[in-house]
Amino acid sequence: MKGILPLSVSAAATGLLYHEHRMRTTAQRLSAATLETLLNAIDANDAQTGGHVRRVATYALILGEAAGLDEHTLHSIERVALFHDIGKLHGALTDIFHETAKLTPEERRAVMTHPQRGAEVLEPLNAFYPDLGKGVLAHHERWDGNGYPRGLKGKRIPLQARVVAIADSFDAITHRRRYSHARSFSDARRAIAERKGTQFDPELVELLLSPPVLAKIEKAMRHAHMPRKKARGNRRRGEAQPAPDITFRWRPRSRGSRSPDRQS
Ligand SMILES: [Fe+2]
Repeated sequence: MKGILPLSVSAAATGLLYHEHRMRTTAQRLSAATLETLLNAIDANDAQTGGHVRRVATYALILGEAAGLDEHTLHSIERVALFHDIGKLHGALTDIFHETAKLTPEERRAVMTHPQRGAEVLEPLNAFYPDLGKGVLAHHERWDGNGYPRGLKGKRIPLQARVVAIADSFDAITHRRRYSHARSFSDARRAIAERKGTQFDPELVELLLSPPVLAKIEKAMRHAHMPRKKARGNRRRGEAQPAPDITFRWRPRSRGSRSPDRQS
C-alpha cells in the first residue's frame, strides 16, 4: 500500500504537466493562426503591403538578433514589423495610397494618421500583446523627436519601433514603389548611415552597418527579390511540434512580389 500513493501523486503531476504543455501549445498555435489570418487579410486587401511588411520583418529580425535581443523581444519586433502599416488599409486612406500623383498637403496629413489608425485596429490584441499597438503607433517617430504622431525622442520610442523604423526605410529605398525606382543596397546603406542620430537610433544604425549584419541583410534582400516559390515548411499536415508564437522567418510568398510597392 505504501508505494501506491506516491505513484499516483506522481502520475497526477505528470498528467497535469502534460495537460499544461498541451494547453500552452494550443494557445501558441491559436496565437500564430490569429496573427497569420490578420496577415492574410492584409494580403487580400493589398498584396503589395503584404510583401512589404514581410520584408521589413525579415530585416528587423536580422537587426534584432544582431543586437542580442531575447526571443520574447524578437517575437514582439516581428509582430510590430508585420502589422506596422495595417492602418493604411483604412478606407479613408486607401485611395490616397493608390494615388499616382504627388500627395497634397492635406493628403499627406491624412497619411500621417496611419500609425494611430493601425494602433486602433490592433487594440483588441492589447491584452495579449501589450507592445504591439505601442510599437505600431511609434513606427514613424524619430530619434531626434521630429517624428509623428507624438514626437517621442530617443529611448522613449519603444525599441520595437526603433528597429522597425530602420528596416522599414531600408525596404522603402530598395524596393520599387509607385513613385520611385528601387535604389541599390549601397544607396540604402548610405541613406541609413546619414540619418544616424537624427531619424534613427545611432546604436542600431552602427549595428546595421557592421559587415556581418549588412551581409545578412543583403542576402535576405536578394532572396526577397527572387521569384517566389509556394510557401512551404510551416503548413506541414498534422503538424506535431509546437508552433512558435509567430516566427515564420519570413517564409517566401508567391503573391505580391512583382508589383511596385507603395509608400512605406
Ligand atoms: Fe508606415
